[in-house]
Order: sequence, then C-alpha cells, then structure tokens
Amino acid sequence: MLSKVSILAFASAVLAQTNGTAPTLAQALNSSSQLTSLSGVLALPGLAQLVQGLSSAQNVTILAPSNEAFASVGNETLGALTANEGLLIALLQYHVLNGTVLSSAITNQSQFVPTLLTNELFTNTTGGQVVEAVASGDNVTFFSGLLANSSVTQADVNFTGGVIHVIDRFLVLPEVVSDTLTTANLTGLRGALNKTDLLEAVDTTSDVTIFAPSTEAFQNIGSVLANASTEDIANILTYHVVNGTVGYSSGIENGTVLTTLNGANLTITIGDEGSIFVNSARVTIADILVANGVVHVIDEVLNPGNATIADPSGDEGEGAFPGATPVSELPFTSGQPTPTTSINQEATSAAAPGASSSSTAGAAAAMKTGSVGMGALLGAAAVYAFN
Ligand SMILES: *[C@@H]1O[C@H](CO)[C@@H](O)[C@H](O)[C@H]1NC(C)=O
Ligand SMILES: *[C@@H]1O[C@H](CO)[C@@H](O)[C@H](O)[C@H]1NC(C)=O
Ligand SMILES: *[C@@H]1O[C@H](CO)[C@@H](O)[C@H](O)[C@H]1NC(C)=O
Ligand SMILES: *[C@@H]1O[C@H](CO)[C@@H](O)[C@H](O)[C@H]1NC(C)=O
Ligand SMILES: *[C@@H]1O[C@H](CO)[C@@H](O)[C@H](O)[C@H]1NC(C)=O
Ligand SMILES: *[C@@H]1O[C@H](CO)[C@@H](O)[C@H](O)[C@H]1NC(C)=O
Ligand SMILES: *[C@@H]1O[C@H](CO)[C@@H](O)[C@H](O)[C@H]1NC(C)=O
Ligand SMILES: *[C@@H]1O[C@H](CO)[C@@H](O)[C@H](O)[C@H]1NC(C)=O
Ligand SMILES: *[C@@H]1O[C@H](CO)[C@@H](O)[C@H](O)[C@H]1NC(C)=O
Ligand SMILES: *[C@@H]1O[C@H](CO)[C@@H](O)[C@H](O)[C@H]1NC(C)=O
Ligand SMILES: *[C@@H]1O[C@H](CO)[C@@H](O)[C@H](O)[C@H]1NC(C)=O
Ligand SMILES: *[C@@H]1O[C@H](CO)[C@@H](O)[C@H](O)[C@H]1NC(C)=O
Repeated sequence: MLSKVSILAFASAVLAQTNGTAPTLAQALNSSSQLTSLSGVLALPGLAQLVQGLSSAQNVTILAPSNEAFASVGNETLGALTANEGLLIALLQYHVLNGTVLSSAITNQSQFVPTLLTNELFTNTTGGQVVEAVASGDNVTFFSGLLANSSVTQADVNFTGGVIHVIDRFLVLPEVVSDTLTTANLTGLRGALNKTDLLEAVDTTSDVTIFAPSTEAFQNIGSVLANASTEDIANILTYHVVNGTVGYSSGIENGTVLTTLNGANLTITIGDEGSIFVNSARVTIADILVANGVVHVIDEVLNPGNATIADPSGDEGEGAFPGATPVSELPFTSGQPTPTTSINQEATSAAAPGASSSSTAGAAAAMKTGSVGMGALLGAAAVYAFN
C-alpha cells in the first residue's frame, strides 16, 4: 500500500512534468504569486488523481482561487472542506471549464460555460453544470451558485492544457432548488411546493427551468389562493416549471414558447432594453444556477388560465388573476425554514424595475465582498462537509 508520503511525492512529480515550450500546470501555478495557497491544497494526497488529470488535460480553463480567496474562507471551513475529499473534489472540478476561454472571449453578453463538475448532487443537467461568464468594462466576472460573484484578478496565464484565470473568491456550488429557494428568501414558493407535494419532483427532475414568483407575488393574489383547492394550487405551480429545458437568460429569443409541466405553454417576451417577461410577469432576478437547472425570479404569479402577454416596455409585470386582492399574511410561508445566508442581492439590483438589463451582466460592478462562511461557500452542501 502506498504511504501518504509516496503519494505526495507522486503528486509533485506529476506537477513537475514539462511539455514542450508551454509551461506545465505546476510552472504556471508557480509563476503567479497569488496561487501559493491553491498549490498547497493541490498537494493533498487525496487530490493526486485530480491533479494528474489537470496536468495532462487539454483544452480547459482553470479558475484558480487566489490567496485572497483562501484567506476569506475561515480556517474552520477550509479544515472541514479538506477533510471531505468528495466535496473538495467537486468544488475544484467546478473551477475547471470545458474549453479554453481566454479573457478576450468573455464579453458583456453573459455566456454559460460548462464545467467538469460531475457530482450529481450539484449537477443534474445534460451537458454538465455551468458558470456564467461576463465582462463589465475591463473586469471579467464569473457568477456561480446563489449568484455568487468571482472576479478575475490575473487573466490568461497559459499552460499546456489551456489557460488559468486567477479569481478573488471561490465559486459556489449550485444547490438543489428547495435550498436555493430558502436562501433566496422565496419562502412562499417553497411552502406552496411542499403543500402540493411537488418539492421533491422539483428537486430531482433533471434539466428544469423554474419561474419563481416572489413571496409578495403570492401575497398579492391572496384572495384567490384562499379559495383555491390544493389541486388548483398544484395546477398553478406546475405552470411555473419547464421540464427538459434549461433556459438561461442570454440567447433566448423574443417570442420563445415553452411548454410547462402543467401542459400549457408560456411565452417569453424581451423588452427593448433587454428586460425579460414571461407571459404577464417580469423577470426580476435572472439565472440563479441550481443543481438541476436554473431559477428566474418573477414579480407575478402566472395563471395557466390566462396567458396574457405583458407590454414589454413596462417596468413591472401585470397581474394575471383579474380581481385578485392582497392579503396581510404571507401565503405558504408558515413553518418554512428561514434563510441563514443570502443570495448575492448586490448582483441582482440591476434587475430591478427601471434598470437597463435583467441579466446579471448589468450588475457586474456591484459585488458581494467580505468573508465567506461555510454556508455562503457551499450553501446546503455545507451539511456534507460536517458529516
Ligand atoms: C504534451 O502535449 C502533447 C500534445 O500537445 C500531448 O499529446 C501530451 O499528452 C502532453 N503530455 C503531457 C505530459 O502533458
Ligand atoms: C488560520 O490558519 C493559519 C495557518 O495555519 C493561521 O496563520 C491563522 O492564524 C489562522 N486563522 C484563524 C482565524 O484561526
Ligand atoms: C467537453 O465538451 C466536449 C464537447 O464540446 C465533450 O465532447 C466532452 O465530453 C466534454 N468533456 C468533459 C470532461 O465533460
Ligand atoms: C475545446 O473545447 C471546446 C468546448 O468543449 C470545443 O468547442 C473546441 O472544439 C475544443 N477545441 C479543441 C482544439 O479541442
Ligand atoms: C472593476 O473592478 C474594480 C475592482 O473591483 C472596481 O473598482 C472597478 O470599478 C470595476 N470596473 C468596472 C468597469 O466595473
Ligand atoms: C496565452 O495564449 C493566448 C493565445 O493562445 C495569447 O493571446 C495570450 O497572450 C497568452 N497569454 C500570455 C500571458 O502569454
Ligand atoms: C424575506 O421576504 C419577506 C417577505 O417578502 C420579507 O418580509 C423579508 O424582509 C425578507 N427577508 C430578507 C432577509 O430579505
Ligand atoms: C437526477 O435526475 C434524475 C432524473 O433525471 C433523478 O432520478 C435523480 O434522482 C436526480 N438526482 C439527484 C441527486 O437529484
Ligand atoms: C420530466 O421529463 C422526463 C422526460 O420526458 C420524464 O421522464 C419525467 O417524468 C418528467 N418529470 C416530471 C416531474 O414530470
Ligand atoms: C405549446 O406550444 C407547442 C409548440 O409551439 C405547440 O405545438 C403546442 O400545441 C402548444 N400547446 C398548447 C397546449 O397550446
Ligand atoms: C419582442 O416582441 C414584442 C411583441 O411580440 C415586441 O413588442 C418587442 O419590441 C420585441 N422586442 C424586441 C427586443 O425586439
Ligand atoms: C411539508 O409538507 C408535509 C406534508 O406534505 C408536512 O408534514 C410538513 O410539515 C411540511 N413542511 C414544511 C416545512 O412546511
């Protein structure tokens, strides 16, 4: 049996391999003063296979967390992470993009780039889990789970297998829908899905697009919900879920028709300033990546019996339930877990009414900063780290 020491020696031998004139992975990592913490972690015995794979990889992009990124993660979090190989490997795989993406190829139009993450807990989509890449002025930013933002501090460090971009914060692994709804404070929707026994289906169906009404949107049609049967509510909720399509905001065409779990269709309309409407509702927060697809927050509850399309020049959606009146209590929220961490509200502010774009691109300048706890780094995955 190999001792830890010999595996360590093996890992560094792999790191030291050279290949023609391009720097090897090890040489490239060593060339940046910002990557000493990452190099230290990559020397862990449990990562030897991953490191060997990366060292001989072709056509990949490594998003390499800087020393600053490591410093912003507490020691307790790092310790728990390194003690859980499966989780650490998943996290690092998520930092490797499939394809060489030079910084010059990243524009102010969001791109959703596939990664090498394969762990089904965090990726249950055809083609693999993605990160959102977008440039704002000279800054290149990647958005990951919970809309966490990571900015490039050193771009285009070439190596034999592709290119490395140094980033200032770790990417966050996308979580299941139910936990993302909790973190995003979409408690009303979570409660409604639980009440109708749809939560598990929404968590475990691969390749979904979910239009998630805000809790206020449910509150605004409270009079309708008060008189609705559980079956009526399920009928409304399934109209918000598209099975078999992961629809990100970029590249979606005006007038796209999507068939929902309910069987009825939704229509996407794009406003002149890039705002996105689904039937009568406006997308207020786009592209929250989840393990099995993507969630877009909307400002109205959709009505399968009324597919009216809103005027896309408006700042807000229009109610789809004629005559509905608000109630004072927040529907469906009772007994639901409350958020212990939050999504990146700063990144979403540009999607608010009146902003020029509903994509996160417009918000790339507004970043979440500060230290990163276990919950913020791993979201619901934190639970695996402590097991
Ligand atoms: C060296 O590069 C060649 C072609 O670019 C590739 O086939 C080979 O696997 C590489 N070797 C190592 C050790 O990376
Ligand atoms: C974290 O660990 C480093 C290195 O072991 C140590 O220098 C630092 O003081 C620790 N920080 C905290 C907050 O414990
Ligand atoms: C990378 O993408 C290509 C298609 O562009 C695909 O054939 C290949 O399997 C992917 N590799 C991994 C490791 O996901
Ligand atoms: C690199 O990967 C990208 C994405 O998977 C693919 O489209 C491209 O053809 C690959 N290029 C080479 C040279 O393998
Ligand atoms: C780029 O990032 C720097 C540092 O985070 C920030 O000060 C600057 O305003 C950003 N520029 C743009 C155009 O977003
Ligand atoms: C990395 O390679 C690309 C093209 O292959 C080149 O444009 C870029 O300048 C290189 N980066 C560095 C730092 O040499
Ligand atoms: C969560 O949503 C509720 C209902 O809309 C709101 O009252 C509350 O302030 C929100 N909490 C946070 C932390 O944003
Ligand atoms: C992934 O999706 C499949 C259905 O396509 C489902 O059977 C499976 O349970 C899902 N896995 C997870 C971890 O949710
Ligand atoms: C989603 O679509 C797949 C494939 O068509 C199907 O097997 C699955 O039952 C559907 N899921 C739900 C929740 O309807
Ligand atoms: C939904 O749209 C599809 C494709 O546009 C169409 O074939 C289908 O008939 C529509 N279904 C309903 C219920 O309108
Ligand atoms: C999208 O289509 C709607 C009507 O179908 C139109 O009012 C709107 O201007 C179009 N948006 C763009 C960006 O062309
Ligand atoms: C979810 O629904 C079940 C019944 O289907 C109920 O027992 C449970 O209390 C609900 N949980 C929450 C958090 O609402």
